Formats: sequence, C-alpha cells, structure tokens
Amino acid sequence: IKKIGVLTSGGDAPGMNAAIRAVVRAGLSEGLEVFGIYGGYYGLYHGNIKPMGRHDVSDVINRGGTILGSARFPEFKEESIRQEAIENLKKHGIDALVVIGGDGSYMGAMKLSEMGFPCIGLPGTIDNDISGTDYTLGFMTALDTVVDAIDRLRDTSSSHNRISIVEIMGRHCGDLALWASVAGGSEYIIVPEVDFDESELLKQIEDGEAKGKKHAIIAITELMTDVNAMAKRIESATGRETRATILGHIQRGGAPNAWDRVQASRMGSFAVELLLKGESARCVGIQKGQLVHHNIIECLTTMRRPFRQDLYDLSNRLF
Ligand code: F6P
Repeated sequence: IKKIGVLTSGGDAPGMNAAIRAVVRAGLSEGLEVFGIYGGYYGLYHGNIKPMGRHDVSDVINRGGTILGSARFPEFKEESIRQEAIENLKKHGIDALVVIGGDGSYMGAMKLSEMGFPCIGLPGTIDNDISGTDYTLGFMTALDTVVDAIDRLRDTSSSHNRISIVEIMGRHCGDLALWASVAGGSEYIIVPEVDFDESELLKQIEDGEAKGKKHAIIAITELMTDVNAMAKRIESATGRETRATILGHIQRGGAPNAWDRVQASRMGSFAVELLLKGESARCVGIQKGQLVHHNIIECLTTMRRPFRQDLYDLSNRLF
C-alpha cells in the first residue's frame, strides 16, 4: 500500500477532524501519500479527491464538524455508483480507504471491500449506536452538550415549578438520553430499549411531587413520540405547566472534548496500521479501554450493542 484515502460520511460528529488528522499524520509518517475525499461518498462518486499534507490538518484537532465535509448519499447502495467511485480512487492510484462515520457509512465500506477495495471503518457518530465499540467518536462531546442543556432547563423548570421534556438525538439508540439522564440528574428517562407506558410516567410525576420535587425533567430519545403533543397531554393530566425542548442539531456541533480527541487520535492511527498490515473490511473500536478491530460485516449484522441496564437502573434508583 502506497496511497490511502480518508472520508467522512453521514451525520458529522465532534472528533471527526481529530480522526482525519490522525489518519493523515500517521499515514505520512509511514511514508504513505494521503488523499482527502471531500463530501463523503457523494464526493467520492464525483471525484472530489485531493492530496493532503501535514499542514492541511494543522489547527483542526480542536474543531467540530468535518473539514472534509459530509453527505448522506443513499445512491451509494447501487453497485454501478460504487464501481464509478472505485474508478475515481484508482485514477489517483489510491489503494485503500479509511471511512469515518456511522452504520450507513460502514455499509458503504463493507460493499467497497466486497468489491475488492480495502476499507477500514472508524465509528464517528454522536449516537453511540455502533457494535464492537464502547464509544463512538462524538458521543462524549454531544453528551457534554446535552448535560449542559439539561442543567439550563433545570434552572428555569425549578423557577417556574414546571415539567420539562427534553428530546435528545440518538436515532434508535437511547445511550445519549440515558447517559445524559444520569449526568444531568433528570427525573425520568424514556429510551427505545425500554417499553414505555405514559400512565406509569404520570404516576411517577405525582410521586415526585409528593417527594417535594420542584421540577420534573423528562429525557426522551428522538423519534419515539411527538414531544409537543406529549407536553399537552401531561399538562392536562397533571395540571402543571409543561414545556418540550427539542435540542436538535446543536448536539452535533462544537469543539470535541478531550476524550473524543484522544480516542479519535488513537483510532485514526490504528486504522493506518491495519491497512499497512493488509487488513480490509475491518472496523475499529475501543473496548474496555483497548483498541480493537472487528469484521465489518459481523459488526453490521450479528453483533449487538449491549443496553446499559445498570445505568438505567441507577438513574431510577437515584430519582
Ligand atoms: O446519526 C446522527 C444523527 O444526528 C441522529 O442522531 C439523527 O437522528 C440524525 O443524525 C439527523 O440526521 P440529519 O442531520 O440528516 O437530519
């Protein structure tokens, strides 16, 4: 292997730049040429590929978003589109690719690998929903952002004796809401991994009031219900003012925290090592603090992310 490419795909996540920097710098230090692919798989298909030197990744370790840009490009599912993408890589003499993104991006990397083009996946998403790793890049930074938002909501909810519903990203994974609930001391958690009964929630809110709680913060994962309609139902059932806040894309932005920078640097460098060893169709993770790599097909099909029941129970215990 003499030339490698790097791209970011899907939803951006804080720490992606630190990972790009690590791939570029580790690659250069091994004597490789490194190319940036701009605009994810969409950019790859359109041949938006440029060589990267060490100064192209100066002053980016601290920056949110992705300097390479990202895109959602469902058309990449089509084999003819991927074939074109491989031709574009070959035009530059690129032998292998590092893909930083979530499960959709891993799917693209798996398909390219199956077509004979070596790829390594790095988990970059705030959702923490990728198997084979305890943490995805961006999760810890987004968690800090959500906890900061919950702290602020607590101030205003307490002042007005209100119930506050906060909708948190994560797609179909409750990790961000769950961890934020524990760290933010929210009263109630609603996550996709646990069955939810609204009448039970109302009863818990009453119990909280009986305990003398001035506010009630309900953390809920997105896509589960319409939180504004839920706020109206809770308000009419409890007689207490209830407001819903959808945190939205604020959760995706901002400077990566130290944790995400360190893990991104480790994972990016490790991806280059794996490519130099001739590995393909692997995805990198951190488990029990150690760098690991798994078969990307297994990661997408048979492997499952364990739900942190311990954190869920803890949050209820401390309510
Ligand atoms: O996967 C990251 C994520 O932010 C999810 O939490 C969310 O459901 C989705 O992306 C939003 O996607 P988009 O930025 O395309 O609206």
